[in-house]
Amino acid sequence: MSTPPPPAASSVTPPQQLLRRLDDTDWADGPARHLEHLVEGGCVLHFPDLRFVVHDAERQFLDPRWSDGKSKNISLRAASRLRGAHGSAQELQALAAMIGRFATEAQQLVDRLFPQYRGKLRAGNASLRPFEVATRSSSWRHDDTRLHVDAFPSNPMRGVRLLRVFTNVHPGLQPRQWRVGEPFEAFARRFAPRLRRPLPGSAQLLRLLRVTKSQRTPYDHAMLQLHDLAKADLDYQRDGPQTTVDFLPGSTWVVYSDQVLHAVMGGQHMMEQTFYLHPDDQLVPDTAPLNVLQRVLGRELGVPRRA
Ligand code: SIN
Ligand code: FE
Repeated sequence: MSTPPPPAASSVTPPQQLLRRLDDTDWADGPARHLEHLVEGGCVLHFPDLRFVVHDAERQFLDPRWSDGKSKNISLRAASRLRGAHGSAQELQALAAMIGRFATEAQQLVDRLFPQYRGKLRAGNASLRPFEVATRSSSWRHDDTRLHVDAFPSNPMRGVRLLRVFTNVHPGLQPRQWRVGEPFEAFARRFAPRLRRPLPGSAQLLRLLRVTKSQRTPYDHAMLQLHDLAKADLDYQRDGPQTTVDFLPGSTWVVYSDQVLHAVMGGQHMMEQTFYLHPDDQLVPDTAPLNVLQRVLGRELGVPRRA
């Protein structure tokens, strides 16, 4: 499959310019940063010196043996329910406390970075990802070593944004190695000619069969296709605009993962906190994938504006 050149390639921001290094060293302390415009512009906010402190007694949790073997992450739901781990009640409590402390610090960080979002961001799961990236085996669709934007077959986002805080907690020197691709609009324009509308009735059927947790909107259908088209296009994976970045142990990064094209090439032991934001609550709603796609495709994508 050949990939057409991006339209107006010369005016498009090169991926390297999407990486922004910031010198914060504390999650909670420090001035309000007001970085909404950067993160909404598709930047990766990289904090090389923002460390999540793993206590000595918690070091033992940096080991895949705590996984229950069913899911690749150990996650803590907002209601303090730990999933994906096994151990004694006492051990699981200590593990939940560690992930919970990260969730608290991630919340403090986003409150400080994005004052405009206060009271509007909704916290989702926090997770510990103890597996070595290279050892994960999966189908091409689940292969996160291929550039993609996050979109989930069973969990329609219906236009809502996915803001993620990641931190590398590897106890040694192993970096989390990412590739970062072109800006979302250039990506959307490149793949737009290959996007197909959903079959009539398919969203209702998927909901009825409980394949999806809520009804997919045409937006979700488009995002899933973008996810799959990018991952399936080996020419694009190899030759598409991209840069690499190493996130060292003791560093943190923040991205809209439904917007930033990303791939993980290596690393082990990372923590992640997901936040949700309605696009109407952005500083510049026009930059939301929903609004970009509606512009690029010239049609509405089934997400009602909020009253
Ligand atoms: C992803 O969202 O693709 C995974 C990122 C990572 O594991 O570093
Ligand atoms: Fe991803």
